[in-house]
Amino acid sequence: MEIYVLRLGHRIGRDQRISTHVALTARAFGAKGIYFTRSDKNLFESVRKVVETWGGDFFVETADWKRLITNFDGLKVHLTMYGLPLPEKIEEIKRAKKLLVVVGAEKVPKEVYELCDLNISIGTQPHSEVSALAVFLEKVLGVVFNLSFDNAKLKIIPSERGKKVLKVRDQ
Ligand SMILES: C[S@@+](CC[C@H](N)C(=O)[O-])C[C@H]1O[C@@H](n2cnc3c(N)ncnc32)[C@H](O)[C@@H]1O
Repeated sequence: MEIYVLRLGHRIGRDQRISTHVALTARAFGAKGIYFTRSDKNLFESVRKVVETWGGDFFVETADWKRLITNFDGLKVHLTMYGLPLPEKIEEIKRAKKLLVVVGAEKVPKEVYELCDLNISIGTQPHSEVSALAVFLEKVLGVVFNLSFDNAKLKIIPSERGKKVLKVRDQ
């Protein structure tokens, strides 16, 4: 299954840190790439730097959200605390070959609820786009402990204490 993430409503400056975390979470938990509704040079550079250092071919791009959701040729899932609990729909979601996962920042436009195929909650309490995305990706894909990233410069050797990092290549 291929999963893409759409992050709605990034506010320059204010959302930089959490938007970076949304992107890094998407990458680390197995999504192919992330779309933002506006460009942010610093944010895009920091995500691309992580990809360069730690490998893989995760992409970060801008997109017009309405056009992306409308034209996406797969299942479109909006994460919202008002939606149906994930366990109720997980089998249907797992059958999809291609998935667009939409997460918000500030208030999400009403149209998003209509344009997406499913509105899905990760619990019915407010938390965060980062935690919602991580839980969703792990329940649906379940690859966080098995992923390996091609062409990494650095690789971590898991260890009981301290930090062991292997330099795999220079550039
Ligand atoms: C900080 S919340 C703000 C939501 C905003 N107040 C609204 O009403 O749309 C940012 C994003 O986190 C995600 N989120 C937060 N809690 C969630 C939950 N319980 N289930 C699913 N997604 C959640 C949603 O994608 C949401 O758009």
